[in-house]
Amino acid sequence: VKTIGILTSGGDAPGMNAAIRAVVRTALANGLEVKGIRRGFTGLLEEDIIDLNANSVSDIIQRGGTILYTARCPEFVTKEGQDKGAEVCRKHGIDGLVVIGGDGSFQGAKQLAARGINTVGLPGTIDLDIACTDYTIGFDTAVNTAMESIDKVRDTSTSHERCSIIEVMGRNAGYIALWCGIANGAEDVLTTERYDHDEQRIISNIIEKRKIGKKHHIIVNAEGIGDSYGMAKRIEAATGMETRATIIGHIQRGGSPTCKDRVYASAMGAKAVDILCRGGSNRVVAYKHGEFVDFDINEALAMKKDLDEYLFQMSKKLSR
Ligand code: F6P
Repeated sequence: VKTIGILTSGGDAPGMNAAIRAVVRTALANGLEVKGIRRGFTGLLEEDIIDLNANSVSDIIQRGGTILYTARCPEFVTKEGQDKGAEVCRKHGIDGLVVIGGDGSFQGAKQLAARGINTVGLPGTIDLDIACTDYTIGFDTAVNTAMESIDKVRDTSTSHERCSIIEVMGRNAGYIALWCGIANGAEDVLTTERYDHDEQRIISNIIEKRKIGKKHHIIVNAEGIGDSYGMAKRIEAATGMETRATIIGHIQRGGSPTCKDRVYASAMGAKAVDILCRGGSNRVVAYKHGEFVDFDINEALAMKKDLDEYLFQMSKKLSR
């Protein structure tokens, strides 16, 4: 490869800037040129492409968001969009492309690879819902933000002897919810993967815990379950315990990345360039069993993943 393009796609995640910086600096160290494609695949189709040098990525490793902006691009799901994307890459001399995003973004990378553009995907999402990897860029920062927010809600919940339902992000995945459930010592964790929608069980749990002297009741609710406000009303009516719902929302997507997100995102960015320099294409960088590895995109997209059953069972025991 001679010129590497880089884009961020889908929801942003803290640590994406660290990955961009690593791609740019590693590519330059290998004598390559680098082009930044702004606003994901949308920007590729609109040729919103800028030259990147070592200075373009200085002072960004500590910043949340993505300096390249991001978008979700319905047009890139079509054959016409994908053909045009490959054409734009060729027009701008981009023969290697790093795509930072989730499974949807990897589908786009796969289509470009099929059209002769060497592509490597980096897992960037706060949701941790990419099957081939135990780590995704942004999860660590997001889960720490959620944990700190829940600690704060817990203070006021205890003072007022209330039940608090705190809804965390994750789309249909319950990783942020489960990790917070453990880290915040929640009395209940509801995830799409495990919750049986038995609200009566939660109500009985609250009543039991009150009897043994618990002053608060923290329920971490995954976004995929939703209905936190409705649930709060029903729980208050059934238990007599004042209940409040808090949806943490997009605060979880922003902020300065943690050390882990900066270091792992940097390692993944550097690895993506190494793969392209070795002639690799249609690959995804992953972190598996304590090592940075890479998989064929088709193989990665076919993998399945579930919440860690041990952690889930443990969280239930610890909340007694
Ligand atoms: O995928 C990241 C994520 O923050 C999910 O947790 C959430 O469901 C979704 O994106 C929110 O998307 P938007 O920013 O478009 O509202």
